[in-house]
Amino acid sequence: MKLFIDSGNFKDIEALVALGIIDGITTNPTLLSKEPGDYRDNLKKICQLVKGPVSAEVVSTTAQDMIKEGRDLARIDPHIVVKTPLTRDGIKACKALSDEGTKVNVTLVFSAAQALLAAKAGASYVSPFVGRLDDIATSGMNLIAEIVEIFHNYPFKTEILVASTRGPIHIVEAARMGADICTCPPAVIDALFNHPLTDNGLKKFLADWEKAQAAATTAR
Ligand code: E4P
Repeated sequence: MKLFIDSGNFKDIEALVALGIIDGITTNPTLLSKEPGDYRDNLKKICQLVKGPVSAEVVSTTAQDMIKEGRDLARIDPHIVVKTPLTRDGIKACKALSDEGTKVNVTLVFSAAQALLAAKAGASYVSPFVGRLDDIATSGMNLIAEIVEIFHNYPFKTEILVASTRGPIHIVEAARMGADICTCPPAVIDALFNHPLTDNGLKKFLADWEKAQAAATTAR
């Protein structure tokens, strides 16, 4: 399963990319609006650092304008993936952009029916938002299971990109279900590392080693 960072913050991205486990980035207008500077320059810098797919979302609302904006975003860097929302216009724009060779990530997906539409429109990625479903007392991960099952029945090329993740359990369950990608806020990626037994175990190994070294030095 591929791991993407859901952020537009260059420092956070730089620190996590250095770990060597990051395959791509997703951004959205909310995330990019938090960063100073020109969003196009910021996206270019992120692409150059990650050298993997970087999703950038259109803010137009008609298919015609989304296509124009999508083409413009795609010109920023070959790694750019154009994000379109799951609306009728977004699906039309997805089909048109995908047909001309631009990768599209269909976002704001909250049902299996919507995921099917994105796949039919030739999307490279479909982004179901699990956390926002959990927020309204609906299981986000049940949606992932449904989409995995449906995509298994057909030769769709669309990758399932689990979005709006809130903690390690979303990532573990997504991997168990065979989702293609999880995009995570930096704090969620950090949380994947944590286990008290690792911390305690390492502390004891190092303390025992130091004790033995000190004893050996005294014996000499
Ligand atoms: C995905 O591409 C979105 O940017 C993101 O996962 C939304 O997550 P949120 O629900 O935490 O805002």
